[in-house]
Amino acid sequence: MLKRIADIKTENNVGKKVILKGWVHRLRKQKEKTFIILRDDRGDIIQVIFSSKLCQNLTIESSIEIMGIVSKDSRSPEGGFEIKAEKISSFNIAETDYPIGEYQSEEILLDYRHLTLRTRKMINVGKIRNSILRYSREWFYKENWIEVNPPLLVKSAVEGGSTLFEVKYFDDIAYLSQSSQLYLESMIYCLGPVWSITPSFRAEKSRTIRHLAEFTHLEAEAPWINMDDLIDIQEKLIFNLIEKIRENNTMELDFLNKRSKIKLEKILPPFEKITYDKAIDILRGKDCKIKEDGKVRSIEWGDDLNIESERELTKDIENPIFVINYPLEIKPFYVKQNYDDPKTGMAVDLLAPEGYGEISGGGIREDNLEKIKTRIIESKLKPKDYQWYLDLRKYGSVPHGGFGIGIERILRWILGFEDIKDVVLFPRTMSRITP
Ligand code: 4AD
Ligand code: MG
Repeated sequence: MLKRIADIKTENNVGKKVILKGWVHRLRKQKEKTFIILRDDRGDIIQVIFSSKLCQNLTIESSIEIMGIVSKDSRSPEGGFEIKAEKISSFNIAETDYPIGEYQSEEILLDYRHLTLRTRKMINVGKIRNSILRYSREWFYKENWIEVNPPLLVKSAVEGGSTLFEVKYFDDIAYLSQSSQLYLESMIYCLGPVWSITPSFRAEKSRTIRHLAEFTHLEAEAPWINMDDLIDIQEKLIFNLIEKIRENNTMELDFLNKRSKIKLEKILPPFEKITYDKAIDILRGKDCKIKEDGKVRSIEWGDDLNIESERELTKDIENPIFVINYPLEIKPFYVKQNYDDPKTGMAVDLLAPEGYGEISGGGIREDNLEKIKTRIIESKLKPKDYQWYLDLRKYGSVPHGGFGIGIERILRWILGFEDIKDVVLFPRTMSRITP
């Protein structure tokens, strides 16, 4: 028995009797006939026509089962197939005040996100998210990386204290994990190259179009790799994702943003690599300014690359770009110092083109016990919170590195969306934790 709309829309089904379950997506009642757009549980739609006598009280979002004959009519949306229904029964007749209509403000759509998920935009976003997760996982398995599950309730900050969420932990306090990196580092000694996908939490106090308080973090860590290896791994993983999505998600891309497909066609490795020094030269050449203590000044060596400077660096390019060797000062304690240029560290960020900016951050880790201890103290963190982590440098330390990719950042770039909230099913930000 055919169950889904996607299976039904083929020539050889014309004239066949089918049964479908779904929801009333659109409803147009005439005296004799009622036209509905039926949406099934995978978000596909088909027009169904039946005699208005069959179900007088039907409303938008009522859940129904219909039986009818598949026919073709070029006026029908999405493929020209429709169903002439003979029977219709309902699971639930929805109340008449369904709050999601065609022209609703962004805020209302967010307030009713649990219902907004049924819009075709969110359905298509959900499908592309699924592809990103699926193709990343497939890539890691193919390349023989091991998937692990690090803890999310932790005692040690990874990315600095200012974005930590504190939680009561029995009689103590703990934090929600900002990154699984430290735990992944501990696992390379026993499982080799490892990766995880977890929520990460950041108490981001700014309202920006690319920050969430909870995001989906894909992280990887491997022993005995250098900067070239690290870049190569990320390039392969990300290009594989792009290739798979442009092969398998054309319908969703077409629906969400026609330009995305064209944009993705142009992505081609190897991606350019520039040093932080060069990035600063470029930005100074463009007279890039930054704000500090309410004053505006020219960007200088030592400044972090913020949203504006990353936008400036990437707005006219079509391929992602790696930026390497950042000043040690602006990167976390775990970044390994460069031998030949001690002011800089072996950190690498991947910036998406067309102004989207950072989608991945990572680097080679400091593997020397004394140096990392000093860096922990300099960063105003407490070595006692890192005892277990320091053991990794005491017992069989090895050169190693890894990276973290923000799934929502990648999606935002691929889909060409302005606001990161649009690619999350239930966004969490400074001003929103419901629904
Ligand atoms: O650059 P970040 O902070 O690096 C780390 O957490 C490393 N410990 C990862 C590692 O090496 N294992 O975060 C990594 C990525 C960023 O490049 C960005 O894509 C994403 O995570 N990210 C966020 N995405 C959405 N909202 C936020 N608040 C994010 N913060 C980071
Ligand atoms: Mg970063």
